Amino acid sequence: MTTKISDRGSLGSKLPWVVLKFGGTSVSSVTNWSHIARIVRERLAAGLQVLVVHSALSGVTDRLEKLLTAGLQSDSSAADAALADLVALHHQLICDLNIDALPILQPHFLDLQTLISPLAGLEHIDDRTRAAVMAIGELLSTKIGATYLNHQGLASQWFDARTVLRAEVREASSVKSNYLSATCDFKPNTKVQKTLSVFGKVMITQGFIASDSSGDTVLLGRGGSDTSSAYFAALLDAQHLEIWTDVPGMFSANPRVTSAARQLLELTYDEAQEIATAGAKVLHPRCLLPARQYQIPIYVFATNASNLLGTRITQEPITEVAQVKAICMRKGVTLVSMDSPGMWHQVGFLADAFQIFKHLGISIDLVSTSETNVTVSLDPQVNTLDSKAIQDLKNALSILCRAEIIGPCASVSVVGRNIRSILHKLGDALQLFADQKIYLVSQAANNLNLTFVVDEDQGDRLVNDLHELLVRPARVDAVLGPTWEKLFQTKLPASKNILPWWRSRRNELISLMKNKECIYVYDSKTIQERCKSLLNLNSVSRVSYAMKANSHPDVLALVHRCGLSIECVSRGEIERALKSINALRPADILFTPNFACRDEYVWALELGVQLTLDNLHPLNYWPEIFKNRNLFVRVDLGVGRGHHLHVRTGGEHSKFGVAIHDLPQFARTAYQAGARIVGLHSHAGSGVFDVHNWSETAYSLSLLKEFFPEVKVLDIGGGLGVPDRDGAENLDISALNAVLFSFTESHPDLQLWLEPGRFVIAEAGVLLVRVTQLKTKGTSMYVGVSTGMNSLIRPALYGAHHDIVNLSRLSTPATLLVDVVGPICEAGDVLGHALYLPAETCEGDILLITTVGAYGAAMSSQYNLRLAAPEILI
Ligand code: LLP
Repeated sequence: MTTKISDRGSLGSKLPWVVLKFGGTSVSSVTNWSHIARIVRERLAAGLQVLVVHSALSGVTDRLEKLLTAGLQSDSSAADAALADLVALHHQLICDLNIDALPILQPHFLDLQTLISPLAGLEHIDDRTRAAVMAIGELLSTKIGATYLNHQGLASQWFDARTVLRAEVREASSVKSNYLSATCDFKPNTKVQKTLSVFGKVMITQGFIASDSSGDTVLLGRGGSDTSSAYFAALLDAQHLEIWTDVPGMFSANPRVTSAARQLLELTYDEAQEIATAGAKVLHPRCLLPARQYQIPIYVFATNASNLLGTRITQEPITEVAQVKAICMRKGVTLVSMDSPGMWHQVGFLADAFQIFKHLGISIDLVSTSETNVTVSLDPQVNTLDSKAIQDLKNALSILCRAEIIGPCASVSVVGRNIRSILHKLGDALQLFADQKIYLVSQAANNLNLTFVVDEDQGDRLVNDLHELLVRPARVDAVLGPTWEKLFQTKLPASKNILPWWRSRRNELISLMKNKECIYVYDSKTIQERCKSLLNLNSVSRVSYAMKANSHPDVLALVHRCGLSIECVSRGEIERALKSINALRPADILFTPNFACRDEYVWALELGVQLTLDNLHPLNYWPEIFKNRNLFVRVDLGVGRGHHLHVRTGGEHSKFGVAIHDLPQFARTAYQAGARIVGLHSHAGSGVFDVHNWSETAYSLSLLKEFFPEVKVLDIGGGLGVPDRDGAENLDISALNAVLFSFTESHPDLQLWLEPGRFVIAEAGVLLVRVTQLKTKGTSMYVGVSTGMNSLIRPALYGAHHDIVNLSRLSTPATLLVDVVGPICEAGDVLGHALYLPAETCEGDILLITTVGAYGAAMSSQYNLRLAAPEILI
């Protein structure tokens, strides 16, 4: 250690301190350094003494690891290359900053060489050397930082953090943790305060590093720079601590995955701790302890967007009202399920089991117990669980119980205030788990979180769905700030970047609303394009349009002209199809009724449509009507998929299809009735984006041919999803083609048929409505419109989202957070929750609701004796 802070003369100063911590990305570019200089200047101008604590440059840790490995393997050319790479990285920043700092870095590069050379031939790298090597990253970067700030006219004093931060002596902690994840004493210390108060100077030091009682370098472990800054803030009794990172604060979900994540403006220490522990990476949970103990407010800001508000973390909540604030996730979680029939009322089972974990140095996170099972979760952040460690654990537990290891899992946490009192609101959200296995549910004793552990690949979807249900719809309030996409006006990467059709036809749409209150408008060109892309699926022999999605006569005629057949589910639909399409032959109609009455089957069979049976009852009780008929059978493959529980049509809880185990009986009964089964059908649900849904259906159905040797056709259903909002991902239609193509290649004797509804028509349709009244109540702003759930029931029925724009003011920025509501006497008559519209929106404006071509008008009613919106195809 070269410079000792105590060596320097100090005039002392009584100004309050602020500690500014900058992370690796914040200190790796010239632009960010100019922001840092400005921020420091502003704090000085506000009458504060400034301590800058910062990390090593991004990418340095990896390079130092490489250097250590090369040293251990005595690979001198690899070591030289790693060192040269490290020098080049720092040299580049120095050149970009236009400062002359290379000479003061040289001693550290020499130190590195000195530390590495004794490693040659050793079996492993000792923790002492590792700590000393890793610390050099911070020493290098802070030297550059101090030189730059001085160059900018900010008198800055570099000091070595190891002269101030001293590792605590912890009983029973290992050598490894003493060197690599030390903790320090952080009691406010007037001596340190005096020593660092060098009049008129900005102090600058390293995060992540400290020293032990023998003067050895130690590291503070993961999130070490955050922790250092909190230690310094406590030691200096700072007025506040600012953590500068690459996002403006903490968010209600990971904004890189959930762009509707909202900025969290205010949190308490314990809430921030929950969110940080449950997976948010912005702030390390360890840094909260010193701040909480000495009540030092923490602010989290973005270095590259310093004009934005951040998150403030303090002791008292600004309101005690129960509220969900974030949905967090940790991946790579391992579960250990321990079964023992003997554990019921057995004294000491848990103690014995936990003793085994303790002995193996494995830390337990969540616990759930029943009379015969205890399941615990192990967090990958704090445990190194390789296959040997897992096997050792299993072996050790086997004396006590039967242990099963489950993983990888994701733990998804709903975090907020008084979670217990809002359990009833979680009802809708929990529906999402209907098809998922939940391995463990745990409610934190502090009433701040509820955690579900599920399969890892379900994690992202659950976070998005839970966020959509529990956080996003909340109104503007003091805790939940703007969404990430509002702050940065970014969208998730979309595979299409095409403007929706209605933007270019705005004037025409406005004139269609002349003298009207509301209208559904369908765009022919969009329908034609969708039909074309379906007919281009060269592995699909026939595409039928599921007319339940939209049965407008002009739409039916157009779809048929494009080359699609028609799929119907009722006599009414068949009659409508035949009436609307002159060229339609009954044989081109697929008829898939469910629990219809006998007469409907008799009528349809006589007409000559292709009937699909989905139950044994008709064959058992009315066998005579099926003699000599070619039939399809709808099979329930046991899996339901889709955007909502109500639209998942497979699985035990669904009323559709014949269960696989009933198929042999079905085959015998059909044979006895003299019917031939020539096609197999399965439809898993609606609004599906995973293309494997259809290929898996095809493969599963093909295996059932053994019961039905005459089968030539596999109808793999509809359900093709469409994005529900601007910027969301499309279904990958060419990937669908690819997976189906590989099926047909290996099954040349089978034809594949598809029967989509939504995909053909959803995006072609918009609903135009007129603003009737505005209302502000509490913190909510309501925009009332001329029609509601009587025209569009999807938001009320499924919580479905539809984008809404003000067509009268398309170019005005949408900045006002509102709920768009209809005139129906139901609290659920809400067409759009928490949407942004222009603040100028007023009575008479025309709003446009998107993606309503499917299941919009088709599901409308005259509830409240209000006529549903009329329809027109343009
Ligand atoms: N085939 C069968 C047997 C079906 O039950 C359905 C839809 C389809 C095809 C067409 O599915 P599509 O490609 O349109 O997703 N009302 C709900 C959708 C219910 C779908 C019912 N069955 C909604 O608004 O989302």
